[in-house]
Amino acid sequence: MKYEREGQILTEDIIHGGVQLFKKGTVITSSMLDLLQKLRLSDKIENTYDRLELSLCEGKKSQLLQDVLVGKSLGKRFLILRNRLDTLIDKLPKELFVKIKKSGALSHSISVALYTASMAVQAGLGLDMIDDCLVGGFLHDIGKSAVDPKVLNKEGFLTSEEFKKISEHTTLGAGILERYNCSPFIVSCALNHHEREDCKGYPNGCKLSTLPIAISFMHMVDIYDAISSERVYKHSLSRASAQKYLMDTSQFSKELIETFLKAVPILLPGECTYVNSTQLVLEDVTYDEYILQSNGTRICLSSEVMRSKTIRGGAWR
Ligand SMILES: [Fe+2]
Ligand SMILES: [Fe+2]
Repeated sequence: MKYEREGQILTEDIIHGGVQLFKKGTVITSSMLDLLQKLRLSDKIENTYDRLELSLCEGKKSQLLQDVLVGKSLGKRFLILRNRLDTLIDKLPKELFVKIKKSGALSHSISVALYTASMAVQAGLGLDMIDDCLVGGFLHDIGKSAVDPKVLNKEGFLTSEEFKKISEHTTLGAGILERYNCSPFIVSCALNHHEREDCKGYPNGCKLSTLPIAISFMHMVDIYDAISSERVYKHSLSRASAQKYLMDTSQFSKELIETFLKAVPILLPGECTYVNSTQLVLEDVTYDEYILQSNGTRICLSSEVMRSKTIRGGAWR
């Protein structure tokens, strides 16, 4: 069914056996979908629609959209951004999606897209820019598809020659995106996401703040996700430690740090701190007002073990 998707919003109350189960305006979650399917009420969500999509089609910032995007709930914001990202990915040439998968950076690409877009929302940037951040974030590391995987995934410290090869993913990525006629901003995301404020970044050593602000957002969340994710060549830091790293480094302004802290939560919907899938949940796992998984069920959420380990292998890539 076309509309039966997490992140969409109910346009009417759902009533079953005289009891109101869900109110109009509720964002659909996976546990809601499960329940509605069990109760054979899936047909009741045929009238749902993607509120963000609709607002964009109408070309105006509706009050509803403001509520969701500028509202207090990061959980809702991430569900809606994720839904919007799916829509935008569907519109991309298939070859670009294949290249992202080939680069081995699919989940990193999705995280960078969502985090950058969330910072753009937080900073009050326009809807077109939010879309650009989603697409630009998703494609920022596409150049890695053209880098030798042996070098890309090498354990331990890199030689300067190997580091040079990896840093070429920026120019290679920009070249790929230019060939697919992507907008100058999307090309710039691939080219400039490793530039730094102190001009010690690559490929051109240009000052980050001379570029669009969204590139600074991307640079920041790229580091955050890279150091807080497990890679074949290094262990991860916990998200809390990665957040602390960003706060302690002198690379980012107070304003950027503030936007980051308000826009990027340490725990996202669909994640929890349980260790493996043979355990049972002992209490409802909730995020904001959502029950992600109920008491007594076997753990099925992706596990994020909050732990701190030393980074091996030097710079993130
Ligand atoms: Fe990169
Ligand atoms: Fe990256």
